[in-house]
Amino acid sequence: MFTKYYSRMPASVGVAQPTEQENHSRFHSKKEIEVDEKQMNHADSTYKREQLSIDETVEELSYFAVFVVYWCYLTMLIAGRLRNYVNKILIFLRVKNDPFAPPPGYAPLFKELEQFWLTRVYQRIRDLFERTITGVPGAKIQVINRASDDENASFYFTGGTTECLNFGSYNYLGFAQTSGPITDSVAESIKKYSYGGGSSRLEAGKYDVINELEETIARHVGKPSAMAFGMGYATNSTTLPAICGGKGCLIISDTLNHASIVAGARDSGARILVFKHNNPKDLEKVLRDSIVEGQPRTRRPWKKITIIVEGIYSMEGEICRLPEIVAVKKKYKAYLYVDEAHSIGALGRTGRGVCEQTGVNPADVDILMGTFTKAFGSVGGYIASHTELIDHLRHLSYGNVYATTMSPPCAQQALGALRVIMGEDGTTDGINRINRLKENSNFFRTNLAKLNFHVVGDRDSPVVIMMMYHPSKLAYLSRKCLAAGIAVVSVGFPVTPLLLARVRFCLSASHTIEQLQYVLKVMDELGDVLLVKHKRR
Ligand SMILES: Cc1ncc(COP(=O)(O)O)c(C=O)c1O
Repeated sequence: MFTKYYSRMPASVGVAQPTEQENHSRFHSKKEIEVDEKQMNHADSTYKREQLSIDETVEELSYFAVFVVYWCYLTMLIAGRLRNYVNKILIFLRVKNDPFAPPPGYAPLFKELEQFWLTRVYQRIRDLFERTITGVPGAKIQVINRASDDENASFYFTGGTTECLNFGSYNYLGFAQTSGPITDSVAESIKKYSYGGGSSRLEAGKYDVINELEETIARHVGKPSAMAFGMGYATNSTTLPAICGGKGCLIISDTLNHASIVAGARDSGARILVFKHNNPKDLEKVLRDSIVEGQPRTRRPWKKITIIVEGIYSMEGEICRLPEIVAVKKKYKAYLYVDEAHSIGALGRTGRGVCEQTGVNPADVDILMGTFTKAFGSVGGYIASHTELIDHLRHLSYGNVYATTMSPPCAQQALGALRVIMGEDGTTDGINRINRLKENSNFFRTNLAKLNFHVVGDRDSPVVIMMMYHPSKLAYLSRKCLAAGIAVVSVGFPVTPLLLARVRFCLSASHTIEQLQYVLKVMDELGDVLLVKHKRR
């Protein structure tokens, strides 16, 4: 019923030119390679995914199911084309106006293909997206009722709301609340600071509460220093150009990294290569080949290589294979940047994120990025690293120099939630929430898989993906969910490949087992009606 657009890393242009010796000497000694080779092999042999990966789901799909999905898209495209031709004739005959026609003498603002997709495909299911909500995005959410009289080209409110169980918000630890000590401290902070920051951090935006947040998040993730930003997206998009970029630098990025990473990597001016999603072996191949080949044309060694991955992939629910990625990074002396937007607070015994979850020493990850928008119920992001890098960033990140500082009450919300997670409020509320989130996630994931759906993602991940494949079935399921009082996120092409339409459930510590059982019951019934229980028994 809601959607999130995110773009994946495009495959990049190839590199050339070997001067193997020169490049090797720059990155490691032979002895180090032997040691790390053992580490890699060990890490790989112990890795076992409990759930299906995205590729495995497709392998399990019958040829008939694949055919039906492609057939559905084909009929939509043919019907759309026919409607477009009829439309053009009506516009030519002046029976109809063309709302997208540019003023005389101007170039068209919209690309024809994008327009075609929006009006002929997306519009058919636009009622699943862009819904207006009101109230707290907690375990339940109020969705404002609406209708359309023009085939989803526009909507109007019909009055009233529908209360839904909320599986669309990233309220992992249930800190989306309007009462309790954190809310009280935020209300106090609005009286103290007002709402807006009023200036960039570098100028008059260096608030005490943001300093405290930075010091606390650094302690939580086990790094000497941290810096906060007003927006998670801008944390990536303005940090990567400041530290990973420039001529002769290389970024190696997971294919499914978030759009903010894509934007930052592109803006950095570094050369970008991608490796197969969450695949350390492919990462090693890409890294080794690029070191051997060196920079394009000149064949000089790369000045700096940075690997970028995510803690939890938010559209797959998969946890990063961090131990093996760290082994590769150490072997070739590359830097490692980990985006913990979805994993900080949600993963690890004490909510310290993917390092704690996978037993990696945070010192082995050069840059830890995270956001306050998910587990902390606030807004903003952070970069945690060694002090010199953070000091460097304070002067070179556009997010710190040109963007208005984080809103102090939002910093207070993030700080309050962080202190609860760390147990610094003197209670066990934080650890209880972390445990509840894990219990809920594992209960829901296991039982959904038992119903024979294709469920993607790892144990303990609060993002549970149920594969639908067929776009019309996706739409039907989403509408039926809304009618049954369940809000889910539907995701299809162009966010995913054509074949891989899916439903995403974001679990929360604030869900109850009874609520999860109800959703499982509804999914069971809908799965039978739609024939989307694809798991081979
Ligand atoms: C992996 C990842 N990084 C960064 C962001 C951007 O964070 P924000 O939504 O806080 O701007 C998101 C958003 O969902 C994300 O999933």
